[in-house]
Amino acid sequence: MDNFTYYNPTKLIFGKGQLDALPSEIEQYGKRVLVVYGGGSIKQNGIYDNIMKKLEEMDAVIFELSGVEPNPRISTVRKGVEICKNENIDVILAVGGGSTIDCTKAIAVGAKTDIDMWDIITRKARAEDALPFGTVLTLAATGSEMNASSVITNWETNEKYGWGLRPYTFPKFSILDPMHTISVPRDQTIYGIVDMMSHVLEHYFHQATNTKVQDRFCEGILTTIIETAPKLLDNLESYEHRETIMLSGTLALNNMLNIGFSGDWASHNLEHAVSAVHDIPHGGGLAIIFPNWMKHVLDDDNAPRFKQLAVRVFNVDPTGKSDEEVALEGINQLRAFWTSIGAPASLTDYDIDESSVESMAEKTVTMSAEYGGFKKLNKQDSLAIFQASL
Ligand code: NZQ
Ligand code: ZN
Repeated sequence: MDNFTYYNPTKLIFGKGQLDALPSEIEQYGKRVLVVYGGGSIKQNGIYDNIMKKLEEMDAVIFELSGVEPNPRISTVRKGVEICKNENIDVILAVGGGSTIDCTKAIAVGAKTDIDMWDIITRKARAEDALPFGTVLTLAATGSEMNASSVITNWETNEKYGWGLRPYTFPKFSILDPMHTISVPRDQTIYGIVDMMSHVLEHYFHQATNTKVQDRFCEGILTTIIETAPKLLDNLESYEHRETIMLSGTLALNNMLNIGFSGDWASHNLEHAVSAVHDIPHGGGLAIIFPNWMKHVLDDDNAPRFKQLAVRVFNVDPTGKSDEEVALEGINQLRAFWTSIGAPASLTDYDIDESSVESMAEKTVTMSAEYGGFKKLNKQDSLAIFQASL
């Protein structure tokens, strides 16, 4: 593995009733609080009322930004930045899933600069600071609650990019009460499961050597999710299974699994291109694309890595088979598992056809002509993977 420095300043506050910690966490940063949330699920499940009570306990001056979209938009970020500047906000609280948290990260940075956030997201300009922000997570999926990344979409240009990765884009704290995820509907639960498994898989496919510990961490999380997901989907109200899935989602992308190397991330680049054009759920897009990326990049040289995944995670029996045969069996098992839990397998499930392939492929190479840490891909590869995903 490479030399590394691991830094993650987010205070993780996990478990039933942990919302009690909210006032003391917020108070450290001030009293003028902007609460950011999505389309209203937190009002239906009671989380909104509980948060307001907690903030009133500390005499907070509360401002709100509601309506953050799944696949959050730069236009909403700009609204939040304006509130922060006009109202002299001290601290931001994101209450929701990855979209609300990602939007909050962008608002926090935008509040401290006169540069338009889209220029920062597209790397035309740099930011140096952010307002402090914390999160109350309500959906297990992205890991945004304990990482420094954010993904924002611009619907004027049909672009969706990840950005962030600065010390100031980590949440100061994140409160994770599995009870807050009990109301997540079946489809969003499935997308979250696919997303967190995809994060582990993105780490797993790398070119570093001697990553025994990291490999076993990845395999342990994947097998745990594979065991737990069907039980959770049979009983969406199970605290125990929500707890396991919530912790899995956070560990999958707090960059502990990839200490000492960088993973692949081509499948995420491909999925972001799809949802930049078609606004589909991120986990749904990944379920379609990831196994097709695997089949596309599999070759003689890298087959042993795929074989390790097949044997250790999907219990494929390698006896009498070539590495490539075992690898393919593992890929097919991943596809079968996702299908068994109800995830989509074809872009046509979202009414995406041949006519979009070229524009989506173009978007995979706008930031750089080549992408993918495990195997370098270009636009031709994107075209082939999208064709295979129809
Ligand atoms: O908007 P509300 O009303 O809150 O409803 C949401 C939304 O409709 C609903 N929901 C959330 N918690 C709920 C709930 N419904 C009932 N009960 C609850 N407790 O679920 C829907 C989806 O929410 P969203 O936040 O969009 O989902 P997710 O957490 O999957 O986030 C997806 C976004 O994160 C980005 C994706 O690209 C996408 O834009 N990602 C962010 C990453 C990061 N920051 O590290 C990494 C990921 O790879 C990903 O790209
Ligand atoms: Zn993801």
